[in-house]
Amino acid sequence: MNYLPQEIIRKKRDKQPLKPDEIRFFARGIASGDISDSQIAAFAMAVYFNGLSMEDRTILTLAMRDSGDVLSWNRLKESGPIVDKHSTGGVGDVVSLILGPLLAACGANVPMISGRGLGHTGGTLDKLESIPGYNAFPDNELFGKTVKEAGVAIIGQTKNLAPADKRFYATRDITATVESIDLITASILSKKLAAGLDALVMDVKVGQGAFMQTYEASKELAQSITDVATAAGTPTTALLTDMNQCLASSAGNAVEVHEALMFLKNDVRNPRLGTVVFSLGTEVLQMAGLASNNEEALAKLEDALVSGKATIAFGRMVNNLGGPVDLVEKPENYLPEASIIRPVFSDTPGIASKINTRGLGLLVVRLGGGRIQVNDAIDHSVGLSKIASLGSHVDRAVPLAVVHANSETDFEMAEAAVRKFIRVEESFSRDVVEVYERITPQPRG
Ligand code: URA
Repeated sequence: MNYLPQEIIRKKRDKQPLKPDEIRFFARGIASGDISDSQIAAFAMAVYFNGLSMEDRTILTLAMRDSGDVLSWNRLKESGPIVDKHSTGGVGDVVSLILGPLLAACGANVPMISGRGLGHTGGTLDKLESIPGYNAFPDNELFGKTVKEAGVAIIGQTKNLAPADKRFYATRDITATVESIDLITASILSKKLAAGLDALVMDVKVGQGAFMQTYEASKELAQSITDVATAAGTPTTALLTDMNQCLASSAGNAVEVHEALMFLKNDVRNPRLGTVVFSLGTEVLQMAGLASNNEEALAKLEDALVSGKATIAFGRMVNNLGGPVDLVEKPENYLPEASIIRPVFSDTPGIASKINTRGLGLLVVRLGGGRIQVNDAIDHSVGLSKIASLGSHVDRAVPLAVVHANSETDFEMAEAAVRKFIRVEESFSRDVVEVYERITPQPRG
């Protein structure tokens, strides 16, 4: 059935209900090009102001998912459930590089579609591309082979995955309509559900360095995603996790890959990062039927780590996708290093009491570790490591952070920024939280 796009837009503008087929028609038209850019923009603005019901969000999500390839893993399913985790993005958010291999080592298959850095937040693909030879855009055959052999493959959104979302998002980005929870839900889930998942956990960030501006907005997004994904047939829960400080001890590309490897090899574990990784992991293992309670899930994850199985999964993934066979053993031979690696100290000893996480994320971008224009090349070697955490002591021996820069000018800029963005006081009495709340799907009434 053919509809008039302008009539669908008018109905949404006037708060009239849309028919499921009208939503499907519009999504199909976005992908095929039959709907114009201005019609997409007008529809997005109408939804921004008037919203979509949960039912309509689900129909839009599925229609956008079905606008391209939907992967099916029939044979692989016999070896274990197909699972994934998705984050709304943060600074030092290296969870995917650790949790993907951990879940694989626990018996799951993890075909993870990840993104690039956006604004002040880092991107998993950019981090993985610090590894020489890593192919983040394999064809479907190599993607499937890697998931089969390593249990995990972390790659980018290929041309044929949810193409309606690609065009819709590009238009929203330039028409002030990104900040619609209804459309963010459909956008994120159309890509995630195209990977043919049995279970998904969402990590929705909260706080100063988060994508959503308030706790309430993060919670609303988490609820929307869990409800829509579950209604679309993929059991999903969400955790609201903290972004009032960097999650890992480092922020950048190669520095975060290095930290992920240290974690996986059980050499150095930032406890904050560990709590978030293990909390998300327990959600997935239980939803996927690989553990029957929290304790069992935690024990499985810990075993996957200390036994070295997760490290093996990571190494196999990297090697299958074109990276060095001995990256895990000898990361220093491969990960690029900046020419200046130098600590920044506080002028006065004290406690790190307030962190401008967004500012630190943007600092990494200014050092060259993120993009200013979409097609900019990035410098994988730069960033920050040993970033002080809230409540930790700093002095002339314990730095605020170690800067990785490729010129003296950049180092001086970063030194001043680190001093400004990490406030040091005599005392600190607030509780530091990693996971605020667990969100589960609400039955529809
Ligand atoms: N990330 C997405 O993939 N889509 C959005 O709409 C916002 C963030």
